[in-house]
Amino acid sequence: MAGIVFVLNGPNLNLLGTREPEIYGTDTLDDIAGRMEDRARQLDLTVDLRQSNHEGHLLDWMHEAQAVGAKAIILNAGALTHTSQALYDASQAIRVPVIEVHLSNPHARESFRHHSWVGRGAKGTIAGFGALSYMLALEAAALL
Ligand code: DQA
Repeated sequence: MAGIVFVLNGPNLNLLGTREPEIYGTDTLDDIAGRMEDRARQLDLTVDLRQSNHEGHLLDWMHEAQAVGAKAIILNAGALTHTSQALYDASQAIRVPVIEVHLSNPHARESFRHHSWVGRGAKGTIAGFGALSYMLALEAAALL
């Protein structure tokens, strides 16, 4: 196995599928996990997809990714993207590259979504492609 990729999801992303489907689509997080696992196998990677509504869990999991030598972290921090200096600090405290992901395009939405602490610390950002954003991030992770 060429590496493990952590796929970390923040607040409200457990509701994917029913949450504002006109913005976020109808795929659930389990649907996305299944597709990522299939593609990861082809890429000789494993994905470990997790979701929490609690900022501290995301921080602990970023530290864990470092401890286990993960190849990359794909991070959709939900609204914490726009508020969490702690997630930015965590990205700087570890050597594992962070790929910021969003289903929607935050820049095309309300102004409070235009700033991203996660993006400031990320290797790169993929946003606006719905569930495909996660798949594109996985392709990027494989090439890092
Ligand atoms: C999101 C965009 C954020 O602004 C929002 O708070 C979310 C989802 C996205 O994937 O499009 O919860 O991260």
